[in-house]
Amino acid sequence: MVIRELTSGDLDGCLRLAEDRGWGREERKWRFLLEGGEGYGIVDGAGDLVATAILTRYGGRTAAVSMVLVASRLARRGLGTRLIAHVLDRAGGLTVFLNATAQGRPLYEKLGFRVTGGASMHVGVFTGPPSGVSRAARPEDLKAIADLDAEVVGANRSDLLRRYAGFAEEIRVIDDGRGVSGYAGMWRNVTNTVVGPVIAAGPEDARALIADLAARAGRPVRLEVEDRRPELAAWLDGHGVTAGMRTSDMVAGSGPLPGDRSRFFAPVMSALG
Ligand SMILES: CC(C)(COP(=O)(O)OP(=O)(O)OC[C@H]1O[C@@H](n2cnc3c(N)ncnc32)[C@H](O)[C@@H]1OP(=O)(O)O)[C@@H](O)C(=O)NCCC(=O)NCCS
Repeated sequence: MVIRELTSGDLDGCLRLAEDRGWGREERKWRFLLEGGEGYGIVDGAGDLVATAILTRYGGRTAAVSMVLVASRLARRGLGTRLIAHVLDRAGGLTVFLNATAQGRPLYEKLGFRVTGGASMHVGVFTGPPSGVSRAARPEDLKAIADLDAEVVGANRSDLLRRYAGFAEEIRVIDDGRGVSGYAGMWRNVTNTVVGPVIAAGPEDARALIADLAARAGRPVRLEVEDRRPELAAWLDGHGVTAGMRTSDMVAGSGPLPGDRSRFFAPVMSALG
């Protein structure tokens, strides 16, 4: 069993592993994550991919870990621990964060991650009206969006956002005439459209951005909502987008996550923060 870096040629193997663990074939998402991050995998003696993880770095400060999977036939033999230890080693001194399933959490705790919060996945067809407060983002907004994003997440994600502009179905901004004070986007996944990221000056603007996107999705939407946002969770529940699977936010390394999290309302996807 050897650890090696993943390439785009491993996509089929990744999708097979995801299906094995009941995650579905999220091909666009895997491709997007592998293009922007470093994929690591464990390959068995027959050359089959039996474990995966992706490390995405942000501007030399933070990094996200995602897509942690081990083939069910090889469960509880230490492969997950070995792979994540390797990924942490590769991350060097960065503050590493992830969104853990109940199954993954004990593994990360053993490797020094601590729980910093919880989140619920909300899914459903949005039944509310659009707010009319936001407008569609224009190519010339990208710099202002990247600057706002950097303030809020405390790291430069301009490379990610440049790629996200081509990946997203739509990006909208709140522009009060003095500049972009909020932005949000949505992207198509297999069975739903994920609304994220959502970055806004306050809860009212966050709801306006979400409503303007979700009302136009034309299919179920999905958002990850942190426990520290009960008012947002209740508003979504009241508009058809109801709470489901719970996860834990976890961080390893020095200090809490940087930035101004008071303006952070939803991640691009749970894999990226
Ligand atoms: C989570 C996962 C990657 C763990 O991989 P693994 O190779 O089986 O993990 P390890 O053998 O290194 O186990 C590490 C520890 O995690 C915990 N753990 C792993 N699987 C568990 C399970 N099914 N139930 C409870 N605890 C579990 C245990 O504490 C375990 O240590 P122990 O066996 O000494 O008690 C694997 O179960 C998996 O792919 N799950 C489905 C996808 C998923 O939830 N991924 C995590 C996303 S955040």
